[in-house]
Amino acid sequence: MQLPSAAALLSLVLWSILSATTKAEATAKETTSIYDLLDSPVSWTSLSDNKLSILAGYHVIYSWPGSILPQRLLNLAEAGKVGGVIIFGENVVDGLPAQIQSLQDAYANGPAYDGTPLLVVTDQEGGEVVRLPGGPEESAKEIGSSAHPARAAASAGPTSPAAGAMAEGLIIGKGNLAPVLDVYRKEGDFDDQFERSFSKDPDIVKKCGTAFLNSQQANGVLATTKHFPGLGAADSDENTDLGPVTLDVPLKQLRSIDELPFKGAIAAGVSMVMPSWAVYPALDPKRPAGLSSKWIRAELRQRLGFKGVTISDAIEAGALEDSGSNSTRAVTAIEAGMDIALASARDVSQGKEVLDGLVAAIRDGSISGQDFAASTKRIMALRSKL
Ligand SMILES: *[C@@H]1O[C@H](CO)[C@@H](O)[C@H](O)[C@H]1NC(C)=O
Repeated sequence: MQLPSAAALLSLVLWSILSATTKAEATAKETTSIYDLLDSPVSWTSLSDNKLSILAGYHVIYSWPGSILPQRLLNLAEAGKVGGVIIFGENVVDGLPAQIQSLQDAYANGPAYDGTPLLVVTDQEGGEVVRLPGGPEESAKEIGSSAHPARAAASAGPTSPAAGAMAEGLIIGKGNLAPVLDVYRKEGDFDDQFERSFSKDPDIVKKCGTAFLNSQQANGVLATTKHFPGLGAADSDENTDLGPVTLDVPLKQLRSIDELPFKGAIAAGVSMVMPSWAVYPALDPKRPAGLSSKWIRAELRQRLGFKGVTISDAIEAGALEDSGSNSTRAVTAIEAGMDIALASARDVSQGKEVLDGLVAAIRDGSISGQDFAASTKRIMALRSKL
């Protein structure tokens, strides 16, 4: 075998450095211009569809069916039009970490790369509600009713998507859509039927939720508390995935019982809050909390002081059957103060439809450029922690 000459080696090295620099410069240029857009008062309505959809991409979480991550999603990621993905049980195969890596690589190779990974979320609550192998094996209810609930919650937290074959550093950009901070009311109700609530006692939910999220975030997994302001009062058949739900709970009770664990989580620095799709007439008789600026802007952000990222529950949820198409729902949510829309119907087209809807709404001014820029910056700040 012939060894390469020193000259050939040198030119190879120079070529690599040169092409790396060119690529880095191209990336930096595109990224800088995107950052500039976030800070400058230019009229966003005059921007190209491409630029607007790169900005909108931050706000959309996509999903796909079955065991193969579709090429279309890789292409969208490379074009910078994806904010992240949600993983379901049907996606969990041995090759998943490699698929996620190729998605991250596609994004990182594209012109919109900002140096942070795409957000990869899943529902790893514990007990029966886990998507990835590796626990937590205990349900929230088992944790909350154990001898030392906060201690049990603290040790369950980091095992979430961080454990198991896939999670040992293999999935990048981890965000858990847990813990559930709903305070259930009675045996077998919506939260209790799958033991998703830590307790009927708001203090125990607060302590467990805070311990769970703190240990999880200390282990590099972003935590999400849900379903704000609380689904604890929902009966066994009041499932927002399936149809509209109205929880006629007095505001005083919502604030003293249901919101209490969220106050703890906000004080502890939780990364994300997922509002509920139930209607709470006490504050807004018309709109589900996740489509209501009274809940998201006035209550969660202004009254409770949450400064992190809000992420929607499933855009395709039955609770929103009277709220229009997927894109209309997402636009309404973002107008109300939601940062990220969860297109979780396992259909890449749904995410794309949401993306296009956001672009159109920015263009026609129904989503304010200023609000959208602030929201995009919150998501960037979140991703910089990954
Ligand atoms: C939202 O998207 C999903 C997946 O494409 C689709 O099944 C559903 O019908 C859509 N919902 C509405 C209201 O258009």
